[in-house]
Amino acid sequence: MSAERKIFVLCLLVQQFLLLRGAKILTVSFVGGSHYMLMDKISRILQSNGHEVKMFSHFVDLSSDVKNQDVPYSHIVGKTEEKYVQETLRSFRGNITEFFSGRDSLHFNFAIVDQMSHQCKMIFNQSSIINSLKVEAFDIAVIDASNPCTFLLMEKIGKPFIAFFPTYSVNAGQVGIPSPLSYVPFLGTRLTDQMDFFQRVKNVLVYLLFHMAVNEKISSMFNDVIEENFPEGSKPSLSELYKKAELWIYNSDFAIDFPHPLLPHVIYAGGLLSEAPMHVSPELEDFISESGQAGFIIVCFGSMIPSYPVIEMNEGLAKLSQKVIWRYKQSDWPKEVKLAPNVKLMDWIPQNDLLGENLHFIYYYVI
Ligand SMILES: *[C@@H]1O[C@H](CO)[C@@H](O)[C@H](O)[C@H]1NC(C)=O
Ligand SMILES: *[C@@H]1O[C@H](CO)[C@@H](O)[C@H](O)[C@H]1NC(C)=O
Repeated sequence: MSAERKIFVLCLLVQQFLLLRGAKILTVSFVGGSHYMLMDKISRILQSNGHEVKMFSHFVDLSSDVKNQDVPYSHIVGKTEEKYVQETLRSFRGNITEFFSGRDSLHFNFAIVDQMSHQCKMIFNQSSIINSLKVEAFDIAVIDASNPCTFLLMEKIGKPFIAFFPTYSVNAGQVGIPSPLSYVPFLGTRLTDQMDFFQRVKNVLVYLLFHMAVNEKISSMFNDVIEENFPEGSKPSLSELYKKAELWIYNSDFAIDFPHPLLPHVIYAGGLLSEAPMHVSPELEDFISESGQAGFIIVCFGSMIPSYPVIEMNEGLAKLSQKVIWRYKQSDWPKEVKLAPNVKLMDWIPQNDLLGENLHFIYYYVI
């Protein structure tokens, strides 16, 4: 072997075995459904890029879409007792029904957070898992930031972390992203970036109300967990913990958000779950093509909300010139209601394939 070649081989060896080192990464998923699907995808991507990934998950599966599957990373599943599972399902369905029959969405959101704080107590009660995560030498963690408990877990085990938020930047205020109220519409106001004077006044009032009433209340729901699990003198507050993230990643895209300043610790990475579209079934293809130029509409309320009161929506959809594919569990459809002729119900929609690359959608975040 020539000297040059020897040096080349040596360099290759150094590069392969000494310089390249995958990180040890913890991913944390405390919300099921599509949230879990996203954390699963992130874990797979990291694992296939040479990192050693371990997921810690704990949730009650509210949708039956997420099947137990073989995963290429290691996975610790927190314990959920049957009584807790039943109670969570009952309470979630009860609140969803109330929401769809007109109860305000704030009430619904408080109910979800209340559920999360209860779940958090159960998670912190599983001390053998928490202790094992504490001693394991993770380089970094990626957490589902929509459940505040993930931040408390990070504080408990003392690891640096990246916060992944499954929607657009609705929590900008907590993250330190500037949101000038003159052109950034606040969550739930249904305003746009073009506001007249009175709309701006509304935007400011809703913002103040939210920060004085809602934020405080949500934080206070975790006081018990903090009280029980952190020693005197080092009790964290959630608002501080949100600012401890090394990075915030949003499952969003500039195309579906209003203009908004961002800071260097914020990245938009929408569309993690979208794949190259495949052909849909001939039956669906026929249904869609019947509406011709008018196009078709998909109605779907997310993985956790399969069925809900229908009469008004059915009447509304009947007035459209488009064909409508509505994700609705067919066996739950009330027999006495006649389905609008332009509507097709499906238990599951191949959304990725139907929407393909021509996506126009209305995204309405519930609060
Ligand atoms: C809504 O959620 C709360 C909190 O989890 C629960 O106490 C309440 O019973 C639920 N409401 C219904 C109608 O199930
Ligand atoms: C925590 O664990 C203890 C002992 O196993 C049990 O008695 C208690 O009910 C648990 N608390 C929660 C909130 O699950």
